[in-house]
Amino acid sequence: MGKIGSPKELQSYREGLAKKRSDSKKVVAVCCGTGCNASGARKVAAAFAEELEKQGLGEQVELRPTGCHGFCERGTLVLMHPEETLYQRVKPEDVAEIVSKTVAKGEVLEKHVYDDPVTGEKHVKEHEIPFYKHQNRLILGKNGAIDPTKIDDYVALGGYGALSKALSMGPERVLDEVKRANVRGRGGGGFPAGRKWETCRNAPADKRYVICNADEGDPGAFMDRSVLEGNPHAVIEGMIIGAYTVGSDEGYVYVRHEYPLAVERLTIALEQAREKGFLGKDILGTGFSFDIKINRGGGAFVCGESTALMTSIEGKVGEPRAKHIHTVVAGLWGKPTNLNNVETWANIPLVIEKGADWYTSIGTKGSPGTKIFSLVGKVNNTGLVEAPMGMTLRQIIFDIGGGIPKGGAFKAVQTGGPSGGCLPAEKLDIPVDFDTLVEQGSMMGSGGMIVMDDRTCMVDVAKYFLGFLKFESCGKCTTCREGTRRLHELVTEIAEGRGTPETIALIEELAETVKEGSLCALGTTAVNPVRSTLQFFRDEYLAHVNEKRCPAGVCKALITYEITDACTGCMVCKKRCPEGVISGDKKQKHVIDAKKCIKCGICRDVCKFDAVRVY
Ligand code: SF4
Ligand code: SF4
Ligand code: SF4
Ligand code: FES
Repeated sequence: MGKIGSPKELQSYREGLAKKRSDSKKVVAVCCGTGCNASGARKVAAAFAEELEKQGLGEQVELRPTGCHGFCERGTLVLMHPEETLYQRVKPEDVAEIVSKTVAKGEVLEKHVYDDPVTGEKHVKEHEIPFYKHQNRLILGKNGAIDPTKIDDYVALGGYGALSKALSMGPERVLDEVKRANVRGRGGGGFPAGRKWETCRNAPADKRYVICNADEGDPGAFMDRSVLEGNPHAVIEGMIIGAYTVGSDEGYVYVRHEYPLAVERLTIALEQAREKGFLGKDILGTGFSFDIKINRGGGAFVCGESTALMTSIEGKVGEPRAKHIHTVVAGLWGKPTNLNNVETWANIPLVIEKGADWYTSIGTKGSPGTKIFSLVGKVNNTGLVEAPMGMTLRQIIFDIGGGIPKGGAFKAVQTGGPSGGCLPAEKLDIPVDFDTLVEQGSMMGSGGMIVMDDRTCMVDVAKYFLGFLKFESCGKCTTCREGTRRLHELVTEIAEGRGTPETIALIEELAETVKEGSLCALGTTAVNPVRSTLQFFRDEYLAHVNEKRCPAGVCKALITYEITDACTGCMVCKKRCPEGVISGDKKQKHVIDAKKCIKCGICRDVCKFDAVRVY
């Protein structure tokens, strides 16, 4: 079907698609998100296509390449409907057997089933796996059911129904619903989206813009990328509803150039949305017109800041400006501009479809709905997690994340990306929502969550993030440009054993200056990692300064590797040492030449007998 001319036509088109889906055949959904592609998902999907044909199942079984299922650490993931059997770490060579036994006969192949690293239990169905069981995947849940290159998959599941409803409600009622739902911006500060929309709508102008901020720059974060790759129409639909509400006819998605798959799928999705009449002139025959362009960013972290992002779209250097006048009043090309991030836009169709009362029944009073986190670091189940707001850090890290690998001890979690704070074990039971995290000295940010174990040095962590931020500072403010550089130097002095108690005092004083004197959030929050680590892990700083010792065994200037009597002489470390500085015969205790050792830590990681110690 070509262009859909009215909400009624959309309804009957959807019914036809949904019927086809329900009568249909089995589905093999192969995750082809960026994470699984890195594990060879494209070859797995190609092997399924070939094997289904070869075994005469091409007509009965639909092969569906999808976006990220969240559990990237176990990729390539293959989810088989309707049974919901989930196979993990599938390789192309496994496919023939999976098709002949599981797809054709329904037999479960134990070797591909998820095995819990903590309990050893096996789980066949996706919803039984603890990683999924404790989540509420309002947004990510559709990724496994949609081929993002086929708009019909999205429409069949109710897609663009919220747009149709919004167009019948009128902009005032839509605005009222978004305000009542108290949707808070998922990009960082958690500002209420409805209030932003209202100011933009009321700002006098002949032209308004809406923007989707997909400039996700936090190290380790890939929430927005995965939503765009896996379900781009949810974002597009949210933007169209937003544009209708604020009175805009032109929108932009500002996405990093480093996200080629997201750009590719978004481009296809926009074309298909235009063909079907969801974008362009006279949308669904209502007279409302709106279209979206893609603008690719060059990868500067600061361009995630709204004013820098807008100047970048205008073709200038992406540099923040003072917000005496907010961008909702004078933003892109001086016109009122409503900017929300990918996840915020993806929430909007849900709010309109199911209503504010339903939405506020999830999460907490002050932070309704869910939040997607990129759960990474020293945790068993790394990947994308969507949890209702208010879930505790412990539930996210241990129930969903499966705890710390190899029986290690939890030490800290960093929330909020490079500008967030590091929270210690005593904070594990705090509810995760916008306000509580700020009260505790961290922040939600866009949802980065980095878990650290007892082998993580908190001085090193602060050094890493300051190194990142000094590089990403745009340089406009002296406090941020010089302050982050100097803070990095001071923390490096401590990590290298050159620090004194005065160094710590200087860091604290300078951090206050950087926070107070910087223009945008990059500068004002850049001090969070060093401040929070000093607040919660001061002893570790003092050990570096007073005892010239790194308790976690990380800071190279302060440590020495040694092999203890527990050594069995298995020779593994000797073979793996990149410098060839370990000597010893089979079944004899080995020895490290400390003068030549580069302290890479490989010997410690590979030793199964815990015989390598760091002093
Ligand atoms: S705070 Fe830093 S990133 Fe922000 S405008 Fe100033 S120099 Fe640029
Ligand atoms: S790997 Fe461990 S046990 Fe084996 S030789 Fe090295 S130190 Fe000894
Ligand atoms: S720390 Fe690295 S360089 Fe040093 S002995 Fe171990 S493996 Fe070799
Ligand atoms: S990319 Fe496949 S699970 Fe994330």
